[in-house]
Amino acid sequence: MDILHYQKEFLSYLESKQWIHEPKNLYEPIDYILKLGGKRMRPVLTLMAADIFSSDFKKALPAALAVEVFHNFTLIHDDIMDAAPLRRGKATVHEKWDTNTGILSGDAMLILAYQYFENYEPAVFQKLAKLFSKTALEVCDGQQLDVDFETRNDVTIPEYINMIRLKTSVLVAAALKMGAIVAEANDENANLIYDFGLNLGLAFQLQDDYLDTFGDPKTFGKQVGGDIIENKKTYLYLKALEVATEDDKGKLAYLYRKKLADSVDKVSDVQRIFELNDIPLLIKEEIKIYTEKAFNTLAEMNIKDTDKQRLKDFGLWLMNRSV
Ligand code: IPE
Ligand code: IPE
Ligand code: MG
Ligand code: MG
Ligand code: MG
Repeated sequence: MDILHYQKEFLSYLESKQWIHEPKNLYEPIDYILKLGGKRMRPVLTLMAADIFSSDFKKALPAALAVEVFHNFTLIHDDIMDAAPLRRGKATVHEKWDTNTGILSGDAMLILAYQYFENYEPAVFQKLAKLFSKTALEVCDGQQLDVDFETRNDVTIPEYINMIRLKTSVLVAAALKMGAIVAEANDENANLIYDFGLNLGLAFQLQDDYLDTFGDPKTFGKQVGGDIIENKKTYLYLKALEVATEDDKGKLAYLYRKKLADSVDKVSDVQRIFELNDIPLLIKEEIKIYTEKAFNTLAEMNIKDTDKQRLKDFGLWLMNRSV
């Protein structure tokens, strides 16, 4: 209920903005990606954090929009980098238009995101901009590592966790902290809610990796098997290299050596190896560990128990998703 309420508030704010103007080829893709749907989890977190620490969560709407616009910019560029055909069940921006359009519309969105901070007075503006710049650069670091790992065959699980912390978790954490900043929460609570988001973000990206390989193509909205085709060194793959039979390790190493032309067979072969070696079970255990870690940070926070429960419910909702 809580989540739906914030989603609704956020969507009516998003829809109150006029996204399309000249030159249309720059702004239509922005309107397209922003209205394509998605869970809106980052803006929901910004609004929820602001609601927990103040009496007026609506003043966090511009910050929530900044986070969502930034997130959607990273998706456009990520889909170019991952050669992904589908996003939220529809064609990706670079497929519907072209790569150059994806690059420039994405750039414009990054700048638009910063502009929403101009709604805040200087002290809050500065805190938001500082956190946002640090976060955005970390996302770039993570995305570069993700690409570097595609062609490395000695990636470790700690390296992988660090990579997903950068490409995904820091933005989830920052979304929450931005809500706390707008609400002028004390530093201790703002930092604790950030830590909650970091661990939740790790669990979330592990779940994303699981769904990328084992999700239902009808509901997932992205190309199932995309990570396998791109030789992404996900937890599934790295764990399999640790625990699989010698024979399966050899097969996996072979399948991930190059971009194989026959990707249909590659995807089903890799899925089978993961399943035979209980990798779905092992990744679910890992997701649970990080979710629990996130919930443990909540215990340390100086907020009402009912508010802790709301954050916990959000985490549980996130971990039970199929998209
Ligand atoms: C996708 O994020 C990118 C990742 C960091 C895994 P979401 O799963 O939040 O995507 P939408 O916004 O709901 O489509
Ligand atoms: C994306 O990771 C992280 C960012 C967009 C910064 P993924 O490449 O796994 O995201 P999806 O699966 O395409 O949404
Ligand atoms: Mg991707
Ligand atoms: Mg990617
Ligand atoms: Mg993914």
